[in-house]
Amino acid sequence: MKTCIKNIRELVGIVPQGVLRKQGAEMNETGTLADAWLLIDGDRIAGFGTMDTLPEADRYIDAEGGLVLPSFCDSHTHIVYAGSREGEFLDKINGLSYEEIARRGGGILNSADRLHETSEDELYRQSMERVQEMIAKGTGALEIKSGYGLRTEDELKMLRVIKRIRENVPALVRATFLGAHAIGRGYGHEEYVRLVCEEMLPAVAQQGLADFVDVFCDEGFFTVEDTGRILTAGEHYGLRPKIHANELAVSGGVQIGVKHHALSVDHLEKTTDAEIDALQGSVTMPTMLPGSSFFLGLPYGRAKDFIQAGLGVALASDYNPGSSPSGDMRFVMAMGCIRMRLTAVQALNAVTLNSAYAMGVSDEVGSITVGKRANLIVTRPLQSLTMIPYMYQTPFIRHHILSGKEINA
Ligand code: NIG
Ligand code: FE
Repeated sequence: MKTCIKNIRELVGIVPQGVLRKQGAEMNETGTLADAWLLIDGDRIAGFGTMDTLPEADRYIDAEGGLVLPSFCDSHTHIVYAGSREGEFLDKINGLSYEEIARRGGGILNSADRLHETSEDELYRQSMERVQEMIAKGTGALEIKSGYGLRTEDELKMLRVIKRIRENVPALVRATFLGAHAIGRGYGHEEYVRLVCEEMLPAVAQQGLADFVDVFCDEGFFTVEDTGRILTAGEHYGLRPKIHANELAVSGGVQIGVKHHALSVDHLEKTTDAEIDALQGSVTMPTMLPGSSFFLGLPYGRAKDFIQAGLGVALASDYNPGSSPSGDMRFVMAMGCIRMRLTAVQALNAVTLNSAYAMGVSDEVGSITVGKRANLIVTRPLQSLTMIPYMYQTPFIRHHILSGKEINA
């Protein structure tokens, strides 16, 4: 079945085959084509061109002067969780910091308690609602982490829920094992790190439940030494690292991530030039999460400096109940522009191709490229890409197409 989208004001996000990420000055550009059509064959992008060469198709979608861009890719989320933490939201309003809430036994441990009490079916139901919301807002690929289990059975429960989501949504899903998100209740620090390495990781790997391994390498959570041990154990099972680093302090997480060929190092609110230097020439995608800067009142990542230094930047939502209760990637893009002073094109590259790279799927999604999965947003009539982050609350999606099929059609 061939579907042709016609009367596209501008096709945005065209990337040649084989380009898997953008770095430095490449971030400033993206391929565009005005007055265009795009052909979908089955679940793939089959071609595109200008309206004077409109091809035959079984079905046409009239974009009526809207733009077409790749669906958003969200490479960092924690959307499998139970309930909410709105009580802590009030604590925060009353002046407590993220670290103070965590020290009082709130934060991640609070979510772990709730998850423990919640059945696997109910956890799936709540999590699916969040994924549906994200898809409705334009996300077509997402990574989901464990890390609210913090005991072997509960970590496996979370990862089984992620697997079930993956099998039941039209979006592309990748799973990350984040047993080292916090020290589980009742464990000593060393005892817990050993549990992660010697019991959780082997079980997760044996059941084939994760693509990646993550560690919260930050002040008050896991040290560089813990992180090195966990990543080495993960490597043994073929799990590539994605690291939480430099959110609360200059933690050394970037350097240990690069050393272990991490696919991404994420957060980076607190970085110095040493982290920028460490990332040079690496395979690791620096990933910034402006949603948690916004919600926690932290500094925003130094995206412009990273780009200036020749590095790429990805942006992701960090959707979670404690530090970023939103999976709205359009808002992430807007914060990239408004607070991190990225241009709309830089922000688009950060929320599509580079975010796809940061979860190892940029050969499959993240750009308008012949042969890639047809994950596409058709906007309402808009004069330019810049309108999307600029009018950041005005509805902009007219059609969302995943694997060639229209969502909510
Ligand atoms: O990415 N920083 C660590 N983990 C999450 C927060 C998780 C939580 O507070 O529940 C984050 O911000
Ligand atoms: Fe996170």
